[in-house]
Amino acid sequence: TSFVAVPPSENSFIKKLKTSGRSLIVFYGSQTGTAEEFAGRLAKEGIRYKMKGMVADPEECDMEELVHLKTIPNSLAVFCLATYGEGDPTDNAMEFVDWLKSGDGDLTGLNYAVFGLGNKTYEHYNEVAIYVDHKLEQLGATRVVELGLGDDDANIEDDFITWKDKFWPAVCEFFGIEDAGEDVSIRQYKLTEHVDLPADRIYTGEIARLHSFQNQRVPYDAKNPFLAPVKINRELHGPTSERSCMHIEFDIEDSKMRYEAGDHLAVYPVNNAELVNKIGEQCCASLDTVFTLTNTDEESTKKHPFPCPCSYRTALTHYLDITSNPRTHVLKELAEYATDPADKEKLKLMASTTVEGKAAYQQWIVQQNRNIVHILEDIPSLKPPLDHLCEILPRLQCRYYSISSSPKLYPTSIHITAVVVEYKTPTGRINKGVTTTWLKEKHPSDPPSVVPIFVRKSQFRLPTRLSIPIIMIGPGTGLAPFRGFIQERDLAKKQDKEVGETILYFGCRKSQEDYLYREELEQYVKDGTLILHTAFSREQEHKVYVTHLLEKNREELWRVIGEQNGHIYVCGDARNMARDVHNILLKVVMDRGNMSELDAANYIKKMESQKRYSSDVWS
Ligand code: FAD
Ligand code: 2AM
Repeated sequence: TSFVAVPPSENSFIKKLKTSGRSLIVFYGSQTGTAEEFAGRLAKEGIRYKMKGMVADPEECDMEELVHLKTIPNSLAVFCLATYGEGDPTDNAMEFVDWLKSGDGDLTGLNYAVFGLGNKTYEHYNEVAIYVDHKLEQLGATRVVELGLGDDDANIEDDFITWKDKFWPAVCEFFGIEDAGEDVSIRQYKLTEHVDLPADRIYTGEIARLHSFQNQRVPYDAKNPFLAPVKINRELHGPTSERSCMHIEFDIEDSKMRYEAGDHLAVYPVNNAELVNKIGEQCCASLDTVFTLTNTDEESTKKHPFPCPCSYRTALTHYLDITSNPRTHVLKELAEYATDPADKEKLKLMASTTVEGKAAYQQWIVQQNRNIVHILEDIPSLKPPLDHLCEILPRLQCRYYSISSSPKLYPTSIHITAVVVEYKTPTGRINKGVTTTWLKEKHPSDPPSVVPIFVRKSQFRLPTRLSIPIIMIGPGTGLAPFRGFIQERDLAKKQDKEVGETILYFGCRKSQEDYLYREELEQYVKDGTLILHTAFSREQEHKVYVTHLLEKNREELWRVIGEQNGHIYVCGDARNMARDVHNILLKVVMDRGNMSELDAANYIKKMESQKRYSSDVWS
């Protein structure tokens, strides 16, 4: 396809910009809400520079209209785009990026800027933003500000505000905007508190549709999760382990939900009641007050920041993230409410982009790991109105888990394997992972404990032909999806089908502590289904990792990959594991395949595009 001029549709962003006198549009490609939040901050700040802004979801826009943006004087399109997985755009930006890829038209006259959100521990760091920035230029658009790249492995907030500091001056220079107005914080939402609202009109934690938890309706997805009963919740670690890893089975019998081995299960968590109560106390507010926040911008597609009306308790329990480190703009807005001048200065400093301010934010918020509850505790003169706090806190996000079962064996249940997060912060507080701590208390009962879930399709798949050999590398909970893979190949073998070698590299700290599914794995070995290599990192003086074993077993690796056209899979949360595996693979392909480094790298790229080399990693 090429770009054809299309007449403005009903949903036209050009029309919206024009009728509301705006010239700045900020598109976001967001999966967990960060890119969307950054987009909102940029659009909001436009006011200061006489560039009224609007946030837009590319999925809801006719992106071909970008060719018409130049009809609005001094207009600018900004793209805040996250990169996920193997260099993929987020779901909501997929179509836009595909459109760019296939396009060869003319975007002359379009002014743009791109900020990318990525993570350096992944191989395809910020690939989407880099691509879009480059492609827009290629198509004739004018880059107003240099591409900005945020690294979520370090401090993405710092990267963003540093870029933003360059962004506005560049924009002002480009458009000849002379001076910025006052740096005032403007409320985006209007508060209504309700008194006699009937209970059946109040949200109590539903994700989108009122009463969706009482009247469950197929199909289930991100906006309409299924309340799955917990069938089993058992400990996988041995008694001497300091940590806990849960094997949880959810009952999906009545859900019509389908899944495949390799898919992810999304879980909507609930915040800890004690933390919610603390916020209520510190803000001297009644959590049972029912309220609505309504967008003052009538053109916005987002009328409310979360399902409204609801009580403050519901908002803080189900809809808002109260445990992450707040970003600088939150501190900036909170500063207004600190009654002690020293506290006010401290908050303002941490929100500023000066060297000193950034260092203070880095130290007091990031390194000492304070969330909003800790901040309110440690700054007693800070008592913000709850409705403003609810406006500025980010949305609570669902968490993903690699499904650890195969539907061929368990069509009516979904298994996950999750490590409970708990750690001490430098201020001596115990932080507990929102989702895993909540799941830990969910046990089979009557009436059943239920958890809001949905299945997210992935690209992580077994080869379609059973005879193809596979190597799986999954230390720790990285074993999860491979349990499903092995179940499937074992079943086929028992049905007398011809199944290729199934090789697993599993690693953990100690064989007696965190060796997940040991009995199951050993049984598969006995049955001849599985070839298992184990690395126990803390049972001897030196670390032994799965990657060390892989290096030793180069012959096996090349035989499977190079000679038998096999597949290789990597999964896990071990920080640098995926990169180490990649490097080993590269070396083996060079040595055994007699290739130059460049040829070997291309060989591996080809394996990736053929889905013969896939990874499912998180950090
Ligand atoms: P949160 O409340 O989100 O807290 C976790 C955060 O706390 C971390 O992001 C980090 O910022 C901080 N933190 C954690 N430990 C420390 C520490 N020691 N010091 C300082 N800060 C710390 N997890 C599994 O257990 N099994 C899986 O199979 C699995 N599969 C996944 C698949 C995908 C595609 C993705 C993206 C993630 C997967 N995860 C998996 C991770 C999972 O989604 C959650 O991130 C994890 O369970 C923590 O969630 P939580 O709500 O309990 O913790
Ligand atoms: P460690 O915690 O003793 O360093 C599951 O988390 C297992 O993966 C643990 O045994 C852990 O070892 C190990 N691990 C940590 N970093 C790794 C890496 N870069 N490659 C492979 N395994 C790693």
